[in-house]
Amino acid sequence: MTHSDTANNTVEGSKNLLTDGIQVGPAKSDHFGGLNIPQENEFSVRSALLDDAVIMESIEREAFPGVIPLSRISRDITRNNGLYLNAVRRWRLDEKNFKSRLMIATKAEKEDSRFLARVRRSVNQYFLDYINPPRLPPDYIAGFVGLWFVLNEAHVVVIGLREVDRRKGVGELLFISAIEQALVNNSKVVTLEVRRSNDVAIELYRKYGFQKVGLRIRYYSDNGEDAVIMTTPPIQNDDFKDHLFNLTKQHAEKWGWVGRPGYSGPMNTGA
Ligand SMILES: CC(C)(COP(=O)(O)OP(=O)(O)OC[C@H]1O[C@@H](n2cnc3c(N)ncnc32)[C@H](O)[C@@H]1OP(=O)(O)O)[C@@H](O)C(=O)NCCC(=O)NCCS
Repeated sequence: MTHSDTANNTVEGSKNLLTDGIQVGPAKSDHFGGLNIPQENEFSVRSALLDDAVIMESIEREAFPGVIPLSRISRDITRNNGLYLNAVRRWRLDEKNFKSRLMIATKAEKEDSRFLARVRRSVNQYFLDYINPPRLPPDYIAGFVGLWFVLNEAHVVVIGLREVDRRKGVGELLFISAIEQALVNNSKVVTLEVRRSNDVAIELYRKYGFQKVGLRIRYYSDNGEDAVIMTTPPIQNDDFKDHLFNLTKQHAEKWGWVGRPGYSGPMNTGA
C-alpha cells in the first residue's frame, strides 16, 4: 500500500467513520485546484487506528510532559463524534525493530540515565520484547490531531508531535487536514483552547485565521495556567477557503504535497 493509498483510505480504522456520521473524505474539489507540485512529502495523513493508540499515548506524553491526560486515546479514537488523524511515514530500516518497546518510549524516557530506567530498558529489550512483543502500527507516527464535532463546531482537542519531528511542517499539515475535515463535515467554525504561554501553537493558529475570543481562567489543573479560547471566522465563507487554499499551496511548495483524506496527489486531481 502506498502512502497515498493509505491517506485515501477513508473508512480504515477502529470504526466506520462514514457510517458513524463523521465523514473523512474529499474536501471540496476546488480546494485542490491548480496545485501541481511534483515533489511528495514523506509524510501522509490518515485516520487513527486502534493499533496506533500505544504510540499516540507516547507522543502525547512527549508533547505534553508532566500533564496527566484528560482522557484515554484508545477510547477517544472510537468516539462517535471524534476524528483523530495521524501524520505517518514508512518505517526506516534502522527503526524496524518492531518488537522493541523503545519505539514506544518518549525521547526523555529513552535518554533517562538513572539506574532504574536503565534496568527497565534492559528488561524490556532482553525479556519483554522477546516474550511479549508490543503491537505497533504499520507505519511510523510523528504526531496527531484530534477533533470533536459538536453541533456546528469542530473543536481541536489535541495536536502534538514527537520532538524530533517538529519544525518540518508536519504540525501544519495535520492542522490543514483537520480544518479540511471540518469543512467536509459542514462545521461552521473551528475552535480550540491553548495555554496562554504556548506561543508556538498560538503562532500556528493565528496563521490559519484563528482569533482570541476569550480566556478560561486557571483552566489547566497542573499549573493553574489560563487557557486562551481561539476560533476561526466562518469557515464555509469563500474568504476563509481562499486563505486556507493559499496556505495549503505554500505548504506544498515548501514541503511537497501531502497525501491525506480527500487528496491523493496532483495526478489525481486533474490539476
Ligand atoms: C505546536 C506544534 C504541533 C507545531 O508543529 P510543528 O510541526 O513544529 O510546526 P510547523 O513546522 O508545521 O510550523 C507551522 C507553523 O507553526 C508556527 N511555529 C512552529 N514552530 C514555531 C516556533 N518554534 N516558533 C514560532 N512559531 C512556530 C509557525 O507559525 C509555523 O509557520 P511558519 O513555518 O510559516 O513560520 C508542535 O510544536 C508541538 O507538538 N508542540 C507540543 C505540543 C503542543 O504545544 N501542542 C499544542 C497544544 S494546544
